[in-house]
Amino acid sequence: MRILITGGAGFIGSALIRHLILATEHQVLNLDKLTYAGNLESLQPISDSPRYRFVQGDIADHALVSQLLAEFQPDAVMHLAAESHVDRSIDGPAAFIQTNIVGTYSLLESVRAYWLGLDNERKAAFRLHHISTDEVYGDLHGVDDLFTETTPYAPSSPYSASKAASDHLVRAWQRTYGLPVLITNCSNNYGPYHFPEKLIPLMILNALAGKPLPVYGNGQQVRDWLYVEDHARALLQVVTHGTVGETYNIGGHNEQKNLDVVKAICALLEELAPEKPASIARYEDLITYVKDRPGHDLRYAIDAGKIERELGWVPQETFESGLRKTVQWYLDNLDWCRRVQDGSYQGQRLGTL
Ligand SMILES: NC(=O)c1ccc[n+]([C@@H]2O[C@H](COP(=O)([O-])OP(=O)(O)OC[C@H]3O[C@@H](n4cnc5c(N)ncnc54)[C@H](O)[C@@H]3O)[C@@H](O)[C@H]2O)c1
Repeated sequence: MRILITGGAGFIGSALIRHLILATEHQVLNLDKLTYAGNLESLQPISDSPRYRFVQGDIADHALVSQLLAEFQPDAVMHLAAESHVDRSIDGPAAFIQTNIVGTYSLLESVRAYWLGLDNERKAAFRLHHISTDEVYGDLHGVDDLFTETTPYAPSSPYSASKAASDHLVRAWQRTYGLPVLITNCSNNYGPYHFPEKLIPLMILNALAGKPLPVYGNGQQVRDWLYVEDHARALLQVVTHGTVGETYNIGGHNEQKNLDVVKAICALLEELAPEKPASIARYEDLITYVKDRPGHDLRYAIDAGKIERELGWVPQETFESGLRKTVQWYLDNLDWCRRVQDGSYQGQRLGTL
């Protein structure tokens, strides 16, 4: 397949592209604006492949996207470009409205025009796969409740509200115009190349630097963690075998309290990086409780039964195995982290088709 991926320089998009190039024969065009979250160094392992191309641009640039679609002739578009950090959405929601809602609308219109011009066979085979989050469902209060594909939407943050809006647009473009779409809603991802402002890499890097490990509120918020490479495998399964118009929840069956995640990271660091900053006896001593995030969701947990039953996908990593790989990856790739932290990763060149 020829697959146009939006947001392919981000955390999940780059994992997906590495998987597509290294484990399949598909061809990939990566359209990414390279916001602060886009990092071409995360694509370095595959950037020389003749099956991979990068173009810097905005999903809301209708003329550019239309030109790329016409030239590249994709069989599928996988849409991952988004503003994705909840804390940033609280400080400045405008970019979230612009990219996640207006940008998705613009992409839908560009893709619809392209799709209408395809011959009948290619039109029937074409897929627009919209990648979304379990945060659109709000939070769960019962200890046994799980998000299913029919859980009503009840987003809490500007981020999750903007993703919910984009899901509604995508669904409407299928119902109204017949665009062959697929939607996936996934739980929290973790793994290599994760931007250091997110919980797991932030804790690893702060601990190594002897800095406080800030835990929101009492740290009892529960998240369902999925190793990013398991997510990439799930996305490939959905775009190639999913039923048009369907939603699939993707989750790792790994519910963990935030505080327990931080403690697990500290325990792994005791084993893998025992030489600590002189100021501390144990990495756990760095844990510091900070004022809770406004509107903080208490618990997310996914019922991933549908994708398991219908498409045969199951995660390959447990939380223990995935977290160990992740901590080891950060220890082995401190240069990548340093270039993100000092901003030098942004000296990246523009791409051409
Ligand atoms: N990270 C998670 O745990 C998680 C979980 C479930 C779903 N998701 C969803 O998966 C998708 C990818 O998440 P991520 O964690 O990789 O995000 P990310 O922030 O790491 O990457 C987003 C990418 O999109 C690009 N981008 C932003 N605005 C753009 C625009 N207007 N035009 C083109 N490119 C643009 C950025 O440069 C960046 O490379 C998002 O849609 C997110 O909502 C994320």
